[in-house]
Amino acid sequence: MKIRDIKGYEFIDSRGNPTVAAKAVLDDNTSALAIVPSGASTGKFEACELRDNDADRYFGKGTLRAVENINEVISSLLIGDEAYDQAAIDDKMIRCDATENKSRLGANAILAVSLSVARAAAKSLKLPLYRYLGGSVKMTAPVPMMNILNGGAHAANNIDIQEFMIMPVTCKSFKERLRVCSEIYHTLGRLLKAEGLSCGVGDEGGFAPDLDNDSYALEFLVKAIEKSGYNTESVKIALDAASSEWYDNGAYKMPKRGTEFDYKGLTEYYEELLSKYPIISIEDGLGETDFEGWKYMTEKLGKRIQLVGDDLFVTDEKRLEEGIKNGSGNAILIKPNQIGTLSQTLSVIRFAQKHGYKTIVSHRSGDTEDSFIADIAVGMNSEQIKTGAPQRSERTAKYNRLLLIESELEAF
Ligand code: PGA
Ligand code: ZN
Repeated sequence: MKIRDIKGYEFIDSRGNPTVAAKAVLDDNTSALAIVPSGASTGKFEACELRDNDADRYFGKGTLRAVENINEVISSLLIGDEAYDQAAIDDKMIRCDATENKSRLGANAILAVSLSVARAAAKSLKLPLYRYLGGSVKMTAPVPMMNILNGGAHAANNIDIQEFMIMPVTCKSFKERLRVCSEIYHTLGRLLKAEGLSCGVGDEGGFAPDLDNDSYALEFLVKAIEKSGYNTESVKIALDAASSEWYDNGAYKMPKRGTEFDYKGLTEYYEELLSKYPIISIEDGLGETDFEGWKYMTEKLGKRIQLVGDDLFVTDEKRLEEGIKNGSGNAILIKPNQIGTLSQTLSVIRFAQKHGYKTIVSHRSGDTEDSFIADIAVGMNSEQIKTGAPQRSERTAKYNRLLLIESELEAF
């Protein structure tokens, strides 16, 4: 099945900033659209998101150059190629770009095309996308790592830890997991309101009140779990510190509170939180260049909890390989736009699974109605998915897609 046409578009994301979409059309007239997301606390080793830097449009954030690269370069490169051969398509774009970080064509342009071709190919074969990606293996829906309280770069409050998430670890179905999380989310809102705190939300839909300290935030989460009729055996807590944002020259300086740590001090701080709260996962506990710190933290905490590398690994197989050798972390966050093609995304998931690292497929803080990551999570049997609060349509698009997939899997 040949690719007949590819078109790029400048769309907007959930923060109202431009992003890139692509539509692929195949010879049998099947067509499919994919829209790429955009991060705020981006890792420094991520593939390049090409922006126009034209101050007259969208404060320099326009994506017309990336769109032009789709319409002028990538489309003629791929028209006539086999749509079912995703690896060849992605490889051709990588070679045409010919830079380390996809900065010539833009990872936003390349990924939009990569995803749209896969979606069109699945549609043309009349296969659900998750099946097209994962093949004929047993598939189950993931456990959500649901962000219900926002801080860091995603909220205008005084909290430095970026994400406080809940994980319903004992529910049997995704449908149940979503219900439990949503009930806890609403209870948290009521508890905050009762204390006269703000119920406004951050970029990923979690509440974003000002709170005296991190422990106070964690106590609110535990209270919300218990008041909803659950307990901390069945619902656990996960954090994303996003601490690369605090890291400067060997020191961690929390920008909002002004607290300062070295990697040992920060690891001790996490240990203290672990001893008091049902935390089972910490993401980016240390910075993206602090391999020494990561090794230390993994030795200290790696047997007790999940330590997730996001900015550390940036969905890059080479960085993950380095991390594995160095004993850094035991899990990897998977964000397709950090690496820029579908094939590389699936490949790093397989690599992580082979080496006993857990995988968590993730949205970005600036996201869209595109639900592609839900299909990746199921198709690749990723244990977990991170896609924000149970509100804001760019987040619920993924949850609703997972509900649909689960019902299809049950009927299968
Ligand atoms: P980002 O945040 O999309 O702003 O990078 C998500 C995360 O850090 O996990
Ligand atoms: Zn993160």
